[in-house]
Amino acid sequence: MSTLVSRLIQNRHAEEDAPYSDAERAVISLAGYEEARREICQWDGYEPTPLRELKVDSAKVFFKDEGERFGLGSFKALGGAYALAKLVAKLGPGITVCCATDGNHGRSVAWGARMFGCRCVIFLHERVSQGREAAIKAFGAEIIRTPGTYDESVRSADASAKANGWFVVSDTSYPGYCDIPVDVMHGYTVMAGEVLKQIGEPPTHVFLQGGVGGMAAAVVGHFVESGLRPVFVIVEPEKANCLQASADAGEPRTVGGDHDTVMACLACGEVSLAAWPILRNRVRFFQSIPDRPAMEAMRILARQGIVAGESGVAGLAGLMSLSGENRARVGLTSGSRVLVIGTEGATDPEIYRRIVGELSSPVREQDLS
Ligand SMILES: Cc1ncc(COP(=O)(O)O)c(C=O)c1O
Repeated sequence: MSTLVSRLIQNRHAEEDAPYSDAERAVISLAGYEEARREICQWDGYEPTPLRELKVDSAKVFFKDEGERFGLGSFKALGGAYALAKLVAKLGPGITVCCATDGNHGRSVAWGARMFGCRCVIFLHERVSQGREAAIKAFGAEIIRTPGTYDESVRSADASAKANGWFVVSDTSYPGYCDIPVDVMHGYTVMAGEVLKQIGEPPTHVFLQGGVGGMAAAVVGHFVESGLRPVFVIVEPEKANCLQASADAGEPRTVGGDHDTVMACLACGEVSLAAWPILRNRVRFFQSIPDRPAMEAMRILARQGIVAGESGVAGLAGLMSLSGENRARVGLTSGSRVLVIGTEGATDPEIYRRIVGELSSPVREQDLS
């Protein structure tokens, strides 16, 4: 059953003050960031996305707006396409690449495949919307629909790749498959690098939404490796809170069920193996939220002229749904400088219109705490 309450846990396993370790650097490094930045900056249409200041909280809130990234609508444009560029540099064009996706990663891989001359097969589980399928198909990718959840579609893509001699370009990593997802994550660090150039004084708090944890680990790793130690909070949908469950246990945990949430691109039940150690070591709080605060955050942003999609606002929704007591636990004051990343625009315009256009009852603070 869906609740109105956000749940916040403190990570007992964090080692936030420890120096950034070689094991962490093997995942996210400044050298990997530099390599990704050099490549991605050359692509047609590259420009840093805006960092906006919001009027939503007593603290100062900065919103990195990924809605216009390469015209693809999300930060994911940086990841899949970059890993694919590296693969083509190694193997040459003409290969067949595939992946599973909730929507945005598949769009990036399909776009990259067209840019770098590969055949592309994208696996979509049964809950991925028609709008998201159409956006992927528009780049010439072949679509295979699979029954079940996102995690099951990851396994289908992997099995088909093995059977057909295709190359998996996945944004999630699992035993025996980490190198390409690490390239994907280095693509994301380009976004983190832009923030550091744009923000001036560094943030005191960073709220990041989590699916499999790749985006969060890329940002956290890049910030920590750059010498910053803000309080990191990961925010997930309550029915797909695999990172929170893993933080509770101190090791990766799977969350079952159908992962049904309006935050469709965060509907993952399994943690990315490569992302996990950075998140375990560096993230102080893990929060899970119901759908309603996310929809309300979309409407609040729309009133400020910012178009942001369901999964893209989860970090902001987490911030706004903290009770007074939890704000104190997290250490938020009027002097805080909070960074949130609006990871997508209206990537499914029909869903965006349904939420922002028709659902107008405001969410009150007392409903959420
Ligand atoms: C818009 C958006 N935000 C955040 C995420 C979360 O990224 P990750 O799965 O790497 O945690 C995704 C993943 O697809 C996404 O599409």
